[in-house]
Amino acid sequence: MKEKLDGIKRAALAGIEKAEVFQDIADLKVKYLGKNGEISLIMRDMAKVPKEERPALGKLVNEVRNEVESALELKGNMLERKEKEARLKAEAIDITLQSDAHRLGSLHPLTRVRRELIEIFSGMGFKVAEGPEIESDLFNFQLLNIPKDHPSRDMQDTFYVNDNFVLRTQTSAMQARIMTTSEPPIRVVIPGKVYRSDDDASHSPIFNQFEGLAVDEHITMGDLQGCLTTFAKKIFSEDTKIRLRPSYFPFTEPSVEVDVTCSMCHGKGCRVCKGTGWVEILGAGVVNPAVLDMCGIDSKKYSGFAFGFGIDRIAMIKYGIPNIKLLYENDMRFLAQFN
Ligand code: DAH
Repeated sequence: MKEKLDGIKRAALAGIEKAEVFQDIADLKVKYLGKNGEISLIMRDMAKVPKEERPALGKLVNEVRNEVESALELKGNMLERKEKEARLKAEAIDITLQSDAHRLGSLHPLTRVRRELIEIFSGMGFKVAEGPEIESDLFNFQLLNIPKDHPSRDMQDTFYVNDNFVLRTQTSAMQARIMTTSEPPIRVVIPGKVYRSDDDASHSPIFNQFEGLAVDEHITMGDLQGCLTTFAKKIFSEDTKIRLRPSYFPFTEPSVEVDVTCSMCHGKGCRVCKGTGWVEILGAGVVNPAVLDMCGIDSKKYSGFAFGFGIDRIAMIKYGIPNIKLLYENDMRFLAQFN
């Protein structure tokens, strides 16, 4: 038994000596000290040894076990450290190598145009307001002189939430909200999303409008014309002209549609303006006295002008964007052009 133990010890220490990787040490540990390891098995054989020899032999087994254990630990630690160092060295990052360049983000063209518009109208004394996209029929239609079942509702393909609420079809809804809650003088612009069941190259079911409203004593169509001329020159170019054509909107009387000289060809005629030199950009007019009265503003004392246009349309004209969908697809190849 004693010789056997000696043999085991020698074999174990030789194995440990020869071990080259940490895994060898782990294997040896199982081989000698594991539950069915050679040293553990010897302990079990102890029962066969005469009683009086057991204490001495037990002591010897313990000594061998301790010796093998510490040899395993020593070599194990050494190999582990060596392997860790090698791994760190292999994984080292060369910080002098050139990295992929970070792509710089940029403002969405709609954000740019909206900010520019706000800047222009702030300069003319307008405040900025925003309102809800789920809007009551009252503000979106009725207070703007569009009663239920009125044929002019057909001008806009409305998404109805229920009988009394819609996804607002026009930022004009905010005109009614503002006029019912504030006193003249009013000068306000309202940028915001609007929704219509409409879908082609120049119409998207969601788009952005920009509304303007001025209510005060003695406001006339001339004020509207002056304000829109300044706006057109600032957003397009100094040589831009506007023209007013008679039109119809239920909430303005008289109503106009406004064209600007084409910013692509400067009025000479091109693909964008279909050869006419003019592009239509907005609807406007003198606030219908009936609307003022419905909203609680005395139409005998006050008058106003209002206008509304698509921010998308302005962006498309300004940057020559052929399809409105490009503004809503978030394709990086498109957006990166606005850096
Ligand atoms: N809300 C109209 C539309 O979406 C545009 C418009 C026309 C707004 C005339 C106005 C206005 O404020 O006076 O088609």
